[in-house]
Amino acid sequence: MPRQPTETPAPPPTPAPAAPATAHQMWGGRFSLGPSEALDALNRSLPVDHRLWPQDVAASKAWVHALGRVGVLTPSEEHQLLEGLDRVAERLADGAAVGAPDEDVHTLVERLLYAEVGTVAGKLHTGRSRNDQVATDLRLWTLGAIDQLDSDLAALGRALVARAEDGVDVLLPGYTHGQRAQPVRWAYVLLAHAWPLVRDRQRLADARRRVAELPLGSGALAGSGFAVDRVLLKEALGFRSVSANALDATGDRDFVAEVLFALTLVGTHLSRLAAEIVLYTSAEFGFVRLSDDFSTGSSLLPQKRNPDIFELVRAKSSRLLGDLVALLTTLKGLPAGYSKDLQEDKALLFDGFDTLALVLPAATGAVAVLSVDAERMRAALDASLRATDLADLLVEAGVPFRESHGLVGRLVREAERSGVPLDRVPGPVAAGIHPALAAALSQLGTWEDSVESRATPGGASRHSVAEQLEALRPAFAEGGGP
Ligand code: ARG
Repeated sequence: MPRQPTETPAPPPTPAPAAPATAHQMWGGRFSLGPSEALDALNRSLPVDHRLWPQDVAASKAWVHALGRVGVLTPSEEHQLLEGLDRVAERLADGAAVGAPDEDVHTLVERLLYAEVGTVAGKLHTGRSRNDQVATDLRLWTLGAIDQLDSDLAALGRALVARAEDGVDVLLPGYTHGQRAQPVRWAYVLLAHAWPLVRDRQRLADARRRVAELPLGSGALAGSGFAVDRVLLKEALGFRSVSANALDATGDRDFVAEVLFALTLVGTHLSRLAAEIVLYTSAEFGFVRLSDDFSTGSSLLPQKRNPDIFELVRAKSSRLLGDLVALLTTLKGLPAGYSKDLQEDKALLFDGFDTLALVLPAATGAVAVLSVDAERMRAALDASLRATDLADLLVEAGVPFRESHGLVGRLVREAERSGVPLDRVPGPVAAGIHPALAAALSQLGTWEDSVESRATPGGASRHSVAEQLEALRPAFAEGGGP
């Protein structure tokens, strides 16, 4: 049914509020009573979704253009609404949302618009539903939040790379199962925490493509009753594509789940970095020391230098996982289309991004000024870490590896029994285990040689670490994408 532009009609059933703080309602004509206080308290989302106001205004302005183009608004009405929305944005930037009584951000913007332009404000919501509106606002907000997170991740990546650059010559035990395993470079350990961030940024960039799908124009569930140009709307708002099914688009929160998963995995990566640093700051390890401005003290124990920062980084990952699980369990079992359950998505998504916005700058700052005790690291390299080198030397002498593993195992047992370091077992004793073992012991080079002997791409050798630094420097460069 074609709609003709009409002049501004008589005031809507809900009177335009004169006083800005009077609650405005978008519904209620069919009820004889307003919502109870208890319902209102449960139903209101403004305390959470007020931060969507810039997106709500931007999407509303695009909607005004779209309505103008199909003749629902006259050029003068279009102009009034656009100007009015700009003034609403100014008022919101000045804090008009603080303490506002409205149900949600959409109601708030509409009330303020009435206050600015009067009854013509009642035309803005033509052919639109809060169902497509909120999905559009939240997607827009998420696009911006992903970009900020991406830049925070790149900053941590740069800090890790910078610290790795001065840790190439610093050797320490590499651990598996929490046990000393083989010597590695400190740079190599740091880079093992940098590569996950590359994947995090790729994952976010990939999710971002699916976030950038426009729901506006879906109406409540079945499409808009007005033939708005969704492709132009998509372009005006910077989306990549237009959603294909309005029932799906209004009820789809896959993008929230996907992004929360990406955030949870970021948190998990940070918690692993944090766990390692907490361990290395202990007196038992003494490998690293947090600078004073990233350390905390104890109220009772004057000597304490606590790594609270990394303990909190570690703990915050649990909270992210909680957000993800809460969202997934909210979605599970919902029929297609919008249900009010979906209102709960925002608190979870905002919490996820807020958590990382707190954690990442702290972790980055602390990593950037972490001091490293290269002596302590080197002192932790005990001779048992040469066991693989010895087994490999036996292999070079023609002994099958399975056999050489067993022979070196016997040498380790002998060293432990006689209380000498592995590389000091007397030659004749070693030769008694296998003739090639004495020669292997005498061929053991320096710790540096040991690290260099594992020269496969991706290993801990100097060349491999240099290649990794080469790849990661541009990957985390300022202004560079993932
Ligand atoms: N505040 C709501 C939310 O965040 C907006 C959509 C409300 N839609 C509705 N049909 N009541 O989900």
